[in-house]
Amino acid sequence: MAVAPVPLWAVCVLRVALATVYFQEEFLDGERWRNRWVQSTNDSQFGHFRLSSGKFYGHKEKDKGLQTTQNGRFYAISARFKPFSNKGKTLVVQYTVKHEQKMDCGGGYVKIFPADVDQKNLNGKSQYYIMFERDRT
Ligand SMILES: *[C@@H]1O[C@H](CO)[C@@H](O)[C@H](O)[C@H]1NC(C)=O
Repeated sequence: MAVAPVPLWAVCVLRVALATVYFQEEFLDGERWRNRWVQSTNDSQFGHFRLSSGKFYGHKEKDKGLQTTQNGRFYAISARFKPFSNKGKTLVVQYTVKHEQKMDCGGGYVKIFPADVDQKNLNGKSQYYIMFERDRT
């Protein structure tokens, strides 16, 4: 779940060593990301994402990601990958967040949920395994 009241770009990569990539999202196929990502409808006030490379970038197409569209909102969106076990192996989770707006308070979170998470109903109380956060206050 990503919660952010400011522009947020997330590129998520989930790897086990160099062996297997379980999930990788680079948003390189135009608007088709909308078929992979599920916007939560748990709260009608949740903000909506769009695809953008933002105000500054290294490469206009390759650096696209999810951008928040409204200030002062919570956001909740998720993409699914096949269940796996990393038992005995190192798990690497990597994502990129870009804050290009001066803000008073905000943050972006990436959470890894159990396979049975209800994506349409994703909310702050949804059970998760791992959370990464970067708050700016
Ligand atoms: C949102 O999730 C909460 C917690 O699971 C639940 O109590 C509530 O009914 C949900 N709201 C909607 C509109 O689905």
